[in-house]
Amino acid sequence: MNTQDHDRFPDGRAVVVTGGASGIGQAIAEAFRAAGDRVAVLDRAGGDGVIAVDVADEDSVRNGFAAARAHLGPIDVLVNSAGLLTESPLEQMPLALWNETIAVDLSGVFLCCREVVGGMRRQKWGRIINIASQLAIKGGVGLSHYSAAKAGVIGMTKSLALETAADNVLINCIAPGPIETPLVDGISDTWKVAKRAELPLGRFGTPAEVAPTALLLANDPGGNLFVGQTLGPNSGDVMP
Ligand SMILES: NC(=O)c1ccc[n+]([C@@H]2O[C@H](COP(=O)([O-])OP(=O)(O)OC[C@H]3O[C@@H](n4cnc5c(N)ncnc54)[C@H](O)[C@@H]3O)[C@@H](O)[C@H]2O)c1
Repeated sequence: MNTQDHDRFPDGRAVVVTGGASGIGQAIAEAFRAAGDRVAVLDRAGGDGVIAVDVADEDSVRNGFAAARAHLGPIDVLVNSAGLLTESPLEQMPLALWNETIAVDLSGVFLCCREVVGGMRRQKWGRIINIASQLAIKGGVGLSHYSAAKAGVIGMTKSLALETAADNVLINCIAPGPIETPLVDGISDTWKVAKRAELPLGRFGTPAEVAPTALLLANDPGGNLFVGQTLGPNSGDVMP
């Protein structure tokens, strides 16, 4: 936090990071902690200091946020990073796979946003950062479900941002390009080699290279003018 943030939040901001047990979410949680904030991690994967939540399950989300509030008080910042990625050509895609992706990667973001928006509006300050993907913009073979969910996150973010901006609740997306995390470990080496070759930077990013964008969006004054935007730390993969 910088000086202005410190005046408003002498004990640090209360930050919830979903999917914060791994990858991009973990790096973002660490970055907020390093900035002096108080952070609760909600994740399906258990672990030390993690509140066990399935973001696709309404009751689980409600209980998880109640636990986070009991620990942190009113939530100032929400980062939605929980997500999963599977691959299937649309022609062979079972409805269950489509539904699972929409449930976690899109409905999960809706459920978590809904938990915090009211409190943020009442306190006239809030920041929500939704982790979408550059695949929402450019698409990807075998990724119609994932691209649809992530495009949904970007559209939902714009609408919600319009609903809340007047109360100083600013809602934005980060749409990373390929980032070295367990999420992409499962994708074939052939895809990774081809993907690296088409990136202007010639390499994937790291979670630590995405986290500062989340801090920017949450910080005063750097984040104050972003409303419904999608920022793209993506190695040049797309230039929207
Ligand atoms: N890695 C990339 O290349 C990349 C690129 C663009 C966008 N993203 C997005 O970034 C976000 C973080 O991905 P990552 O690469 O850090 O992956 P990751 O697998 O390292 O982390 C994802 C985390 O989300 C959690 N999670 C999954 N399903 C959940 C559920 N139903 N409820 C609660 N937690 C759940 C996992 O347990 C895990 O800890 C995701 O939304 C992903 O779609 C990743």
